[in-house]
Amino acid sequence: MSSASITDLIQTELREGILTVRINRPEKKNALNLAMYQALADGLRYADSEDAVRVILLTGCEQCFTSGNDLSDFIGAPQTGPESPGMLFLIAISEARKPIVAAVNGLAVGVGVTMLLHCDLVYAGRGATFQMPFVNLGLCPEAGSTLLLPRIMGHQRAAELLLLGESFSADKACSLGIVSEVCPDGDVLATARSRALQLAAQPAAAVRLAKNLLKRDFAAPLRETITEEGVQFMARLKSPEAAEALQAFMQRRKPDFSQFG
Ligand code: COA
Repeated sequence: MSSASITDLIQTELREGILTVRINRPEKKNALNLAMYQALADGLRYADSEDAVRVILLTGCEQCFTSGNDLSDFIGAPQTGPESPGMLFLIAISEARKPIVAAVNGLAVGVGVTMLLHCDLVYAGRGATFQMPFVNLGLCPEAGSTLLLPRIMGHQRAAELLLLGESFSADKACSLGIVSEVCPDGDVLATARSRALQLAAQPAAAVRLAKNLLKRDFAAPLRETITEEGVQFMARLKSPEAAEALQAFMQRRKPDFSQFG
């Protein structure tokens, strides 16, 4: 693949019309750094522009889909502006024209969950766990999740996931509507690939049109929400609550928010 930028941490392979994009940083639980976001954004844009790609298959490693944003980037060089790699990735995945299939094993944390809201078919292993701990980190939800989650599951269920930020199972993710099917852990990638092959055999223009129509009524508010969440997220990164949460993560201790009103 020539036009997509690739790092070793984001691996891509184009075969039988399926562009597989694999997050591969197991020693850091597949945490996404700036170069990885950029490579993901480039890969998705390449997929949309290249006729040979009919379906995108997004996956991680056997133990981990992704533990979300690299927290050391939040401390070192926070970048969440409109041209930041993270924001380019969110725009690319939320506005992708071609179908995206996700195969999730192990941990999916933060953007590891919210990116799934932009995928079309999501297969998860029985042992996969999901968590959106944005508020726990003193931050706010992102990736359009404040619009999409209540739409998918209603306000109260979305509020519980986002305000308490607890981990939940693949079965719960499936019953809430953010996973299409739960499979035995060892079968997730094969199931996702077989569905992707089925999609690749469908008439491509009709698939793209159906996807576009499915998302048409919330396309504009979604872009607005992603932008507004990004502005608030950037501001929260400078808050004392986030500073305490991020320091606590680095120091491997429980955060103490009791001194903040
Ligand atoms: N950012 C940066 N580093 C991360 C990371 C992240 N999101 N997630 C994991 N890592 C690193 C750990 O710091 C550790 O690095 P080290 O070996 O150099 O110390 C390594 O990956 C292994 O993680 P560890 O915490 O030892 O694994 P675990 O199985 O005990 O816990 C998690 C896994 C994902 C539950 C835990 O690492 C975690 O809570 N990570 C943060 C998740 C998060 O808050 N994401 C952002 C949401 S907005």
